[in-house]
Amino acid sequence: MSVGNNRILDDPIQQFKTWYTEAIEVMVHEPDAAVVSSIDDDGFPSSRFVLVRKIDNEGFLFFTNYNSDKATSFAQTPKVSLTFGWLPLQRQVRIQGTIEKATREESDEYFFGRPRGHQIGAWASPQSQIINDRKILLKRYEEITAQFEGKEIPRPENWGGYRVTPTVIEFWQGKPDRLHDRFRYRRINDGWNIQRLAP
Ligand SMILES: Cc1cc2nc3c(=O)[nH]c(=O)nc-3n(C[C@H](O)[C@H](O)[C@H](O)COP(=O)(O)O)c2cc1C
Repeated sequence: MSVGNNRILDDPIQQFKTWYTEAIEVMVHEPDAAVVSSIDDDGFPSSRFVLVRKIDNEGFLFFTNYNSDKATSFAQTPKVSLTFGWLPLQRQVRIQGTIEKATREESDEYFFGRPRGHQIGAWASPQSQIINDRKILLKRYEEITAQFEGKEIPRPENWGGYRVTPTVIEFWQGKPDRLHDRFRYRRINDGWNIQRLAP
C-alpha cells in the first residue's frame, strides 16, 4: 500500500514512528502533543492535550495525576482516543484503544528523570480540583520544596503513567484538491488489517 508517494508500512507503530520522526525533522512544535478524549460521567466526550512520552509495540504512554478528572473517566470507561496533529506536514493520526495504568517501574523511571521543579509540581497540584487562589498553589509549591530540601523527591502515589493500547490507528495525509489520503489499521488477532478510506 502507499500514502502519496510513500509506501505504507504493514505495522502501524512503525508507520507512526516514521511520521513522528519526520515531524521532529521539520521541527513541528510539540510533536508529542496529542488530544486524549475520554467519556465523562454524563456520557459526554471530554478532550485535553497530553504529551505522549513513550511509544512502543504495546502502545502510547503519557503521564498525569491519578486523581484528575481524566483518571476518573478512564477508570469508569477505559476506552479512549488519542489524536495527533502535525499540521505543517498536513498530517493527522487518530488512535482508538483501551487505557490502563502503566507499571510502577515505568512511572518511576519517567518521574525520576524529570527536573526537580516538575517533580515538586506533581506534588503541589491537586489536578482538576477547584482552587480559589493561585497563591494557594504557590504556597503548596514552597512548602513541598522546603519539605524535600536536600532529599530525593519520591513519586507521589497519585501520579504516574497510562498506556493506550491501540485497536484502530488512522493516518491522514493532506493532498492538493482535497484528495487526501486516509489509511486505517484495525487490529485483527495478532496482526493488522489495512484499508484506504475516502477523505
Ligand atoms: C500541549 C499540552 C500538553 C499537556 N500535557 C499534559 C500531560 O502530559 N499530562 C497532564 O496531566 N496534563 C497535560 N496538559 C494539561 C491537560 O491538557 C489538562 O489540562 C490537565 O491534564 C487536566 O485535565 P483533566 O482535568 O481533564 O484531568 C497539557 C496541556 C497542553 C496544552
